Amino acid sequence: MLTPHLTREDSQLRYESVPLAAIAEQFGTPTYVYSRSAIVENFREYKNAFASSAPLICYAVKANSTLSVLALLASEGAGFDIVSTGELKRVIAAGGDPGKVIFSGVAKRADEIAYALSQKIYCFNVESEAELHRVNTVAIDMQTRARITFRINPDVDPKTHPYISTGLKSNKFGIAHTEAVRLYRLAASMHGIEIAGIECHIGSQITELGPYADALKRLLGLVDELSAVGIHIEHLDLGGGRGIVYGDESVVPMSAFADEVQRQLAGRHLKLLLEPGRSIVGNAGVLVTRVEYLKPGESKNFAIVDAGMNDLLRPTLYDAFHPVEAVLSRTRDAVLYDIVGPVCESGDWLAKARALALEPGDLIAVLCTGAYGMVMASNYNTRNRPCEVMVDRGEAHLIRERESFEDLIAHERIVV
Ligand code: LLP
Repeated sequence: MLTPHLTREDSQLRYESVPLAAIAEQFGTPTYVYSRSAIVENFREYKNAFASSAPLICYAVKANSTLSVLALLASEGAGFDIVSTGELKRVIAAGGDPGKVIFSGVAKRADEIAYALSQKIYCFNVESEAELHRVNTVAIDMQTRARITFRINPDVDPKTHPYISTGLKSNKFGIAHTEAVRLYRLAASMHGIEIAGIECHIGSQITELGPYADALKRLLGLVDELSAVGIHIEHLDLGGGRGIVYGDESVVPMSAFADEVQRQLAGRHLKLLLEPGRSIVGNAGVLVTRVEYLKPGESKNFAIVDAGMNDLLRPTLYDAFHPVEAVLSRTRDAVLYDIVGPVCESGDWLAKARALALEPGDLIAVLCTGAYGMVMASNYNTRNRPCEVMVDRGEAHLIRERESFEDLIAHERIVV
């Protein structure tokens, strides 16, 4: 198996037994395809590894917010970590329970706070003193109390790409751990606030155990300091960030991760929350694209495909590596290709220097694109965003139609 449920049989790639070529034939390209079983298994891996602490696993909606993905996770009992009213509305539209929603993000508007309060979400992860005042004011106006955690910036290095590390002093996220006791005391004095917990999220695509162990230790130190001044912490939220294997990374096994967390929490009456995104959906999706042209060059050969940086931004934005596979195996010799898209930017590439045996019109699958793929897609170059398909034990279901030109211009007015 290349990634969970992605196999090569009879010289062609199949996802949960469905030939990717058949999906391309039926729905066109580029198309995101997700494996239902892979998503469920990833979620259950967390549930099983952490079984003894029965955590509330709040799937980070930002990783993939397609309604069918949210509905599937809701049916597995997931809570949700959101960063906007839009994400909360998606959770509700998908049948998720607002009572299991936590609201993260540095720039919550007053109307977003009010809407989340009206939906009775589980809690707000507050990221600054100014935000604390705003949440308090909105809650008092609505004659209610907002349950909050502070997102603590524990100043540990998650050893990941600088754009996706969030727990360093130099990042915009969270409050400094040196400020925590003062701010919790302030929160405790506010009529619109109920202190629920403590939270951190130190980054994304974290492969080592050390940064988590350090962050958790720092948080537990604060829980003790707070308890000494009479502030009771009900839950501890360790954030998301667990990495996946895109290439040659070795990711600390889930069991070692869970054991360390549960070892540190042993004997404490703290409810555990987690906010995984990438590790639930990342390896459960592929982007299928068609080769429009092969362009041999003096220094490089290009395979020009019909998916671009507007469809999958990660390579352009983070220099991210995604494995690439030809959908149909060919017997001819492989050639090194840069796989590039149709967008008019030199930075429009999906993969570099990959050995593939291709002919024009062939299909390529870009693997591990279930997280931060479709959600980061744009309409740059007036390109319709891809459609999305979910495979489920031998069947393919369309879960989002391909956008049309009419969708793209629907909100425009011509004024001359
Ligand atoms: N909780 C909070 C507060 C977050 O900011 C994030 C991700 C998560 C949870 C989920 O983290 P995960 O388990 O997915 O690592 N677009 C980037 C990733 C940005 C992550 C931002 N925060 C990428 O494509 O690599």
